[in-house]
Amino acid sequence: MINELKNEIEHAKTAFIKEVGEVRSQEDFRNLKEKYTSRKKGILTGFLQRLKDVPQPDKPFAGNAVNQLKVLVETGLNETETRLAALKATKETETDPTLPPFVYPVGRVHLLSAIRKRAEDIFIGMGYEVTHGYEVELEDNNFTALNVPEYHPSRDEQDTFFIKDFPGYLLRTHTSPVQIRYMKQHKPPLKIISPGKVFRKDDPDATHSPVFHQVEGLLVDKNIHFSHLKGTLELFIKAFFGENINARLRPSYFPFTEPSAEVDISCFMCFGKNPVCKLCKGTGWIEILGCGMVHPKVLLNCGIDPEAYSGFAFGMGIERIALLKYEVSDMRMMYDNDLRFNCQFG
Ligand code: PHE
Repeated sequence: MINELKNEIEHAKTAFIKEVGEVRSQEDFRNLKEKYTSRKKGILTGFLQRLKDVPQPDKPFAGNAVNQLKVLVETGLNETETRLAALKATKETETDPTLPPFVYPVGRVHLLSAIRKRAEDIFIGMGYEVTHGYEVELEDNNFTALNVPEYHPSRDEQDTFFIKDFPGYLLRTHTSPVQIRYMKQHKPPLKIISPGKVFRKDDPDATHSPVFHQVEGLLVDKNIHFSHLKGTLELFIKAFFGENINARLRPSYFPFTEPSAEVDISCFMCFGKNPVCKLCKGTGWIEILGCGMVHPKVLLNCGIDPEAYSGFAFGMGIERIALLKYEVSDMRMMYDNDLRFNCQFG
């Protein structure tokens, strides 16, 4: 008996859902309401009356099933009543041309995307191709092929996210492995930039984040000299920061470039005139990127003859440029997705 009742209730539910969807007029509505809830012959009323004949142990179950139907019918009828009222209202008013239009909120290009795009455009203008690598990388591409020795501190678990259960894989710590992938697959001349996410085990604060973005650049051809690197970066810096901004190179060290340099730009806040400048700390210069001539061992690792070819590479942090150029005081604002921040740029 309980099964029979259950089946009938399920049937009634399906039927109601279908019928309530077909209501088009007040008359349809009245008929449907009558059919299910009339005191004498209503389908729902019928089920409620039959409840008292259900044997005791099945009562809670049956009660619950009938109640579900009751809720369905009540909600369905209420919604339909509202729908019919709204339909009537629109029919009566038709369109009101004096109503203010509904303005769809339009977002902005995110600051980080805007900077990436601007950097891409400048390099595309110089004939570079935009390429992409992988965020999950082989330890080999991220370190070994880039001439980073086993004992180098950046290979430590303290600094790098290695992927548990997948030995040899990690979250790339810089965009430089894209150089390796690209050089292994293409013959020089090569001229690429590669923007993307990189990962390091840093605690988030105003100037650090475990995930941030870099743009890598690589050029390999015959007779490429340090002066080409310097000229390219100067061109980029003037296009990006302004004609009045100068660049200087300082000797530095990266295992994958030789010689290596750090690039500073002249302080666009104080132009070296404020001894207590927040931005340049009174030095007149701000560090923005690392670069150098591709190490012959790196070329060899990728099957390129270092006797015949030479090249340069550089890598810069997109967040760092954003912090500098727009005087953003806390890097975390770039990830909060607060429209009050995001809509100021882009
Ligand atoms: N990969 C370096 C870093 O993340 C930057 C760099 C790229 C330096 C290319 C030299 C050449 O710090």
